[in-house]
Amino acid sequence: MTHTTRRLMLVAAAAAFAITVPAAQAQAPAPIIIKFSHVVAPDTPKGKGAIKFKELAEERTKGKVKVEVYPNSQLYKDKEELEALQLGSVQMLAPSLAKFGPLGVKEFEVFDLPFIFKDQAAFRAVTDGAVGADLFARLEPKGIHGLAYWDNGFHIMSANKPLHSVADFKGQKMRIQSSKVLDAQMRALGAIPQVMAFSELYAALQSGVVDGTEGVPSNFYTQKIFEVQKHITLSNHGHLAYAVIVNKKFWDALPADIRTTLTGAVKDATTYANAIAATENAEALDKIRASGKSTVYTPTAAETVEWKKALMPVHKEMEARVGKSTIDAVYKATGFVAPK
Ligand code: LMR
Repeated sequence: MTHTTRRLMLVAAAAAFAITVPAAQAQAPAPIIIKFSHVVAPDTPKGKGAIKFKELAEERTKGKVKVEVYPNSQLYKDKEELEALQLGSVQMLAPSLAKFGPLGVKEFEVFDLPFIFKDQAAFRAVTDGAVGADLFARLEPKGIHGLAYWDNGFHIMSANKPLHSVADFKGQKMRIQSSKVLDAQMRALGAIPQVMAFSELYAALQSGVVDGTEGVPSNFYTQKIFEVQKHITLSNHGHLAYAVIVNKKFWDALPADIRTTLTGAVKDATTYANAIAATENAEALDKIRASGKSTVYTPTAAETVEWKKALMPVHKEMEARVGKSTIDAVYKATGFVAPK
């Protein structure tokens, strides 16, 4: 067989194959891929919220959108994931609100002020209102579009020594997220703050690079932090929440009907994630208690007063960083009255 004959036969075979492929299959456009990267375990409020979004998005767009969820810093660590989003290497994230400072949107750190939210309703009053919208507007020039806020409850403190009174923090190296407010908070307690990616926390605690950390029970449990921290204090001194964000260029370029469907999927995933946060954290705390690996201590009223006295000056100290108008707007939305 000559070279030309073989080529003709191949072309004919390819044409025959093309005819036998069902028309729908041949024409189905490739799905729009959304890579959703995050740093926590799948079995957490954020992890479950991401999966819920994936299910709703894929079902409601009838497969026109495919959401690939990458948990546990599999793709990117804290700081890298924000850079990856801006570059368009991933399309969607849900970083903690304490991680927006390095982007230059320092106002987000208002959420890290100690004891600023007395309960979940106070937090929601802020994110559902003008402050939440204003903060998202500040992300637009950075090429980021904010879609929703997801709650993950209150911070607890841990170390290998009991942390009851403020004096117990003296000289303790405490891991923090990349927020200057959290840095000021740890210093106000007499501790030495150290910024570190979430993915490095377990190893750093295990090897003694840091002595302790703050965090939420669902993360303490799923990252096994309780196995390398002997003492936990239920201080509820801070709050952890996330911003569900997308690459703006990607979002704006979506067909309008798809964007509307995805907006609805985010809305329903948000309701779900916010509804499970408190129970998920309570269950994680129960499992930590049951493990017997870490003692769980509830501070006395007098100890809480002492912590507040040490920490409230951080609100004033951080005015220059976070912006007085943002702090005042949060106070107003929550009815917050600073203890004298
Ligand atoms: C942390 O870094 O401690 C948290 O922001 C992790 C997370 O996303 O819950």
